[in-house]
Amino acid sequence: MRILVTGPRGFVGARIMDELGQEAIPAPSLQSFDEEGVRRIVDATQPDLIIHTAAMSDIGTCEQNPEGSYRANVEIPVWLARTGVKCLMFSTDQVYSGCAGEGPYTEEETAPSNLYSRHKLEMEQRTLDINPDTVLLRATWMYDMPRYGVPNRSNFLVNMLRQADISFSSTQHRAVTYVREVSGLIRQASLLPGGAYNYGSENTLTMLETAEWLKNTLALPVNIQDAGYRHHLWMDCSRIKSHGIHFCNTIDGLKKCIVDYSL
Ligand SMILES: NC(=O)c1ccc[n+]([C@@H]2O[C@H](COP(=O)([O-])OP(=O)(O)OC[C@H]3O[C@@H](n4cnc5c(N)ncnc54)[C@H](OP(=O)(O)O)[C@@H]3O)[C@@H](O)[C@H]2O)c1
Repeated sequence: MRILVTGPRGFVGARIMDELGQEAIPAPSLQSFDEEGVRRIVDATQPDLIIHTAAMSDIGTCEQNPEGSYRANVEIPVWLARTGVKCLMFSTDQVYSGCAGEGPYTEEETAPSNLYSRHKLEMEQRTLDINPDTVLLRATWMYDMPRYGVPNRSNFLVNMLRQADISFSSTQHRAVTYVREVSGLIRQASLLPGGAYNYGSENTLTMLETAEWLKNTLALPVNIQDAGYRHHLWMDCSRIKSHGIHFCNTIDGLKKCIVDYSL
């Protein structure tokens, strides 16, 4: 199988490239391409599947550059979907950021409260309209140790290891997911029927409790403060489980990562 991976040097894309090995075809950066350019890449590589990880993925950057966010997070995925090749696209748990209640939220309960997540939700709807086979994976905040040669974006684990003072909410329900599980399950995810899926770990602890668990487990010299209210992002992952895709819960994912890196 030939799988074109966009964002192959990004946080998620680099791990997916590792996972797929010789089946993976790294896409060039799409940042300066128009629709014709995107189509030329797809025509030249003739993929059976496109895994689209490239995005403007930082909420603050999107707010500062709405046109850039629209290009990256809506137009480029729409152009990829229009090529007619089956696409698996990454979306985000931020589509639940304006939901009432503490969750867990099912796939139908979306209420995006920032530009990034509004664009991601528009992307989901438009790509599904173009090709009902499109698989949309709503990912949680993901973590890993730094990887050689790959830019190391801010993530829960590295922030906890590096920072002397950090704050998390004592009321916020959300999960964090080990990115190696995300990449490890990607072949199974590519076989899902078209639609949107909550794709990651679940977590019954608050973010403050999760951070305290990690601090105590690794005896980290970090001072954790209560950040006060943060909106909930807790996803119900029953739908992917019903398709045989199972992630560890957040604490078990952290335990796995601790073992993998001998932390
Ligand atoms: N990381 C997380 O915790 C997280 C959480 C929820 C959802 N997600 C979603 O998961 C996917 C992968 O996230 P990630 O953390 O791997 O992202 P990332 O590392 O921030 O970016 C991935 C790639 O996107 C491309 N890119 C950056 N800016 C762009 C722009 N303006 N236009 C087009 N492409 C651009 C870059 O590839 P090139 O250099 O090849 O252009 C970059 O390597 C994204 O869809 C993101 O929204 C991530």
